[in-house]
Formats: sequence, C-alpha cells, structure tokens
Amino acid sequence: EADIKKKLPLVNKKVLVTAGPTYEAIDPVRFIGNHSSGKMGFALADELASLGADVTLIAGPVALKSKYNSIKRIDVTSAADMLTACLDNFADADACVMCAAVADYTPAQVATQKIKKTEDHFNIELKKTTDILKTLGAQKRDDQVLVGFALETNNEELHAKEKLQKKNLDLIVLNSLNDSGAGFKSDTNKVTLIDRNLNKTVYDLKSKTEVAHDICLKVTQLLTK
Ligand code: CTP
Ligand code: CA
Repeated sequence: EADIKKKLPLVNKKVLVTAGPTYEAIDPVRFIGNHSSGKMGFALADELASLGADVTLIAGPVALKSKYNSIKRIDVTSAADMLTACLDNFADADACVMCAAVADYTPAQVATQKIKKTEDHFNIELKKTTDILKTLGAQKRDDQVLVGFALETNNEELHAKEKLQKKNLDLIVLNSLNDSGAGFKSDTNKVTLIDRNLNKTVYDLKSKTEVAHDICLKVTQLLTK
C-alpha cells in the first residue's frame, strides 16, 4: 500500500481543473476571445490523472483531447458558463486549479440578430465578468486547496502576491510574458510558484508537460500534508 501511495499519491482525491479561453458573444456570429491554447490546463489535467486523481476538466473552446478517458470533461463557452460549471463542482473537489484564461469583460448586451455595418465608428459596451477564482476563494473550506494563475507583464511578483491574497489562494503560478518561450501558443513555459506563506520557487523554461509535473508536485504536497 505504501508503494501505491508513492506512485499514485492522489488516489481518492478529486481535482477540478479549468483550461482554455472563454468566448464572449457579441451577436450570433461574433465573439470576443483570447489566444489561450488550453495546452497548460490539459497538461495539468493529464498529470493529475497520472498521479491517480479523479479529475474533472472544465474546458473553454479548444480542439485538444485528454490523454486519459478517466478525465471527466465539461465543455463551456463563456465566462458565465465556466462560473456555473465551477460552482456546480467546487464543493465536491479536494483541489481546484484555475488555469483558464477567463475573459475579464463581456458585452453588456448580446444582439439577437447579426449586427450590420452602418456607422464608421462602432462601440461595444462591456461589463465586468464575475471573478471565478475569487468567488471560489471566498467559499473555500480549510480542507480544500485552491491554485490560481497570474499572467503579468510588469511588477510580476508583486501583482501575483496581491492576487494570491485577494483571492484566498494556497498557490499561485506566475507566468511572465517577458520570459521568451512562455506564453499562449507555445509548447514551453517558464513559471514561478508562490505559496500562501509567500515562499517562492523559480523554475527554468520547460515543456508544458514538465511544468505541469512541477505544479502537481506542489499540489500533491499541499493535499497530502
Ligand atoms: N480568473 C477568474 N475569473 C475571471 C478572471 C480571472 O477565475 N473572471 C482567474 C484566472 O483563471 C487566473 C487568475 O484569475 O487563475 C488570474 O487571472 P489574471 O488575468 O492574471 O488576473 P485578473 O485577476 O483577471 O486581473 P488582471 O487581468 O487585471 O491582471
Ligand atoms: Ca484577467
């Protein structure tokens, strides 16, 4: 049994992972999206499953496939859909890794018909979406582990620490867009992990699979201590 625990340390642990972008509808044929590929979130779901976890993957619109059939996938489109799926599944989870690139703003109104081009200038009013991670942080129990991401271009560490505290996280994965080879479309990533005691670990540039492995080691430590 000690052997199984070593190889599959997350057996009987339920982990929720979000991945990919969200699409915010403007009208029936148009949306506001972002360049998230979903690769990091899918790599995390695969890695967690390989460690024995019971994984639920909430995926925005991406064409990726998971490595394991055991991963339960919930496909969503918008930030509002993702919020609903997260709220439906969070209470049951031992850990949640919020990797999705959730839209911060969504059109205030969605046109029911295709918008026709008329004026030379055209504005779309946007309203803030609900911060899913912050919502989950506010309802997190002591026995749950919550992991967020931070994508920054400047004052990276300060901003990441602020997000960690504001959203009541146990761990934040800082992605700096200043690091070459780190980013949306890339197969590699360079991250810094900061835990709730503000302990910081800086990692080298690696494949997203290897980065997922590093993150999952930390999550395993947090879940099994
Ligand atoms: N996030 C979320 N819900 C949102 C926006 C972001 O759950 N509506 C989550 C992301 O999945 C990520 C974390 O919050 O895990 C940080 O996202 P990021 O875009 O770096 O930070 P924001 O809090 O959105 O702040 P800003 O974009 O202004 O830097
Ligand atoms: Ca954001």
